[in-house]
Amino acid sequence: MRDSPVLVTCGLPYTNGPCHIGHLRTYVPADFYVRYLRRSGEKVVFICGSDNHGTPIVVNAERDGVTPRALSERYHIHFDQTFRRMGVLFDHFGMTDNPVNHHRTQSLVNRLIANGHVYSRVIQQSYCTKCGRFLPDRYVEGICPHCGSPARGDECDQGCGRHLEPGEIKEPTCMVCGTKAGFRDQEHYFFRLSEFKEFLLGYLEGLSGTLNARNYAMGWVKDELRDWCITRTLDWGVKFPGRDDLVVYVWVDAPIGYISFTEEWADETGVSWKDYWCREPTAITHFIGGDIIYHHCIFWPALLKGAGYGTPHAVVASGMLKVDGHKFSKSRGYVVWTNDDYLDKGLPADYLRYYLLSYTNHTKELNFSWKVFQERVNNELVNTLGNFVYRTLYFAHKEFGGVPDVPVRKEIVAEIDRSLAAIDRSMQEYEFKTAIDSMMGLAAYGNNYIQASAPWKLIKTDRDAAARVIKDCLILVQALALIFEPVIPEAAQEIWQMLGNADRIEDHQISGATGDVPPGPLPPPRPVFSKLEDAFIAEMDELLAKRVKEAGKKATKMKTIPFEEFCKLDIRTGKVISAEKVPKSNKLLKLRVDIGDEIRQIVAGMAEFTTPEEITGKPVVVVANLQPAKIFGIESNGMILAAGEQASLLMPEKEVPPGTKIR
Ligand code: 2FM
Ligand code: ZN
Repeated sequence: MRDSPVLVTCGLPYTNGPCHIGHLRTYVPADFYVRYLRRSGEKVVFICGSDNHGTPIVVNAERDGVTPRALSERYHIHFDQTFRRMGVLFDHFGMTDNPVNHHRTQSLVNRLIANGHVYSRVIQQSYCTKCGRFLPDRYVEGICPHCGSPARGDECDQGCGRHLEPGEIKEPTCMVCGTKAGFRDQEHYFFRLSEFKEFLLGYLEGLSGTLNARNYAMGWVKDELRDWCITRTLDWGVKFPGRDDLVVYVWVDAPIGYISFTEEWADETGVSWKDYWCREPTAITHFIGGDIIYHHCIFWPALLKGAGYGTPHAVVASGMLKVDGHKFSKSRGYVVWTNDDYLDKGLPADYLRYYLLSYTNHTKELNFSWKVFQERVNNELVNTLGNFVYRTLYFAHKEFGGVPDVPVRKEIVAEIDRSLAAIDRSMQEYEFKTAIDSMMGLAAYGNNYIQASAPWKLIKTDRDAAARVIKDCLILVQALALIFEPVIPEAAQEIWQMLGNADRIEDHQISGATGDVPPGPLPPPRPVFSKLEDAFIAEMDELLAKRVKEAGKKATKMKTIPFEEFCKLDIRTGKVISAEKVPKSNKLLKLRVDIGDEIRQIVAGMAEFTTPEEITGKPVVVVANLQPAKIFGIESNGMILAAGEQASLLMPEKEVPPGTKIR
């Protein structure tokens, strides 16, 4: 048992879009871990909430014509309900825009200021003259100053992944109007992160959790630590103390949400939040996505330390999610929506929980594919676990009307004990997949045991021996229900009831797994899992393929180019001087076109719609700087612009000389 009370948190989802299985990659394991600790006798508080501030929410609210608060409330409710449907049950689910968080953030920032960790400096901040505003974070796109990749204002999301400070992005473009932005001076406030290097090196050395979190963070701290700008020019957010025109950066008030949500929960429950946050060592474990390690392992502990709070004990960072082998991407259609694509189709939360937890190690990349999902559910949940449970309960009910009054074999109890120890070892190491492999291993053991002992044969010759086998199996079923509860809580509860219990399985501990199953009647059992049919999986695959296709079409349609790109085109008027058919081609005409300063040879696919006689002498519009191409062996140096299926020629409304630029 630890001295400090145990607190587990999950990264806060932004309230700017619906829940997808990328989110669940972190929330399900966190819930699993909390359930496991509780079933192991720990008292744990499980805290989360929604992240309401920052530019993505303002941008989306502007797009939808609602206030950022209204958008946040909509998605806050959505996430709260979706998590419950997935069996992810927080003790408290707060909002970072709530007054307690505004207050806690300002108080913490004031402490940082009082402790000398904040200074102000005038910086050159991206500014759009057309929109007349500064361009914080997602309002600006450009080029990463570190690696040259396309980047967003606050993050090099397509390249090196570095956090970008305001004003750092090169070649900024305003995301609202698409204009090339400039820079303007503005006073901002900075957190002296660079002064926390020594502290962080020591802190990370002792940080528990997954190694990816500690090692990445350690690398970054050793490499370079730069001060962080902690203010933004926005209306939406927590006001920076003493400055009405600035709010704190969302990455300040978001993690502070962990504290203020604990405060809200503690207020409701009559305990002190300070027991969790205001002493060292704490027993705080953060579950986060692998993309926000920097924020949680570097920035956040330094903020806490600087303001005199306790620092987190562990950070558990999940690997990324792929969909059908492709990088998860909402815009490219590689996404599975938790409600629309999964829960609303009538699929049990347990199946997805099992898949997410058992597919691979927590820190590795997880691929979601409907086919593999089907295989895992059908082979493991249905054929291994479900089959053993059902066979046992069915036989016990049919032949003995319930649990026979016979003793259990010692070797069965020893096998369960071995599994419990293996599971616990894995859980201490945050090796969730390995823990679940041990659980499924026990189900496979049960299946082999019942198969090899064949009580259905035994009962014909030795009823007592059959009773003993089935009693052993019933103990195994009870153990499986208890150990699997953190993974598949709904199915575990059903099995629990079929074992003749009227109460909640979550009120029991895993240590009860080797306890006796008291003799007595059992209700008729039913299978807890059902097979996923090929037709259904094909339907889901089709839905995904359709979404990817639509997204592709949309991307082609919506692809915008900066004005400078357009300027690269040399489009001008011309006049067709002569035309002839290209031999052996029904479609092509070879044209000589006067484009002002020269006569060009251009091959055009117009023979089906016009004749050489008709087109000769006509004014046309020409792209004059296309790379030369050979069409049917004839060199073509440009393109005649025409509209639609019938290749209707574009031409100037009034007569202009050949070579006139088109702008
Ligand atoms: O990356 C994100 O989705 C953030 N909303 C996570 C915030 S976690 C915490 F720091 F609040
Ligand atoms: Zn970069």
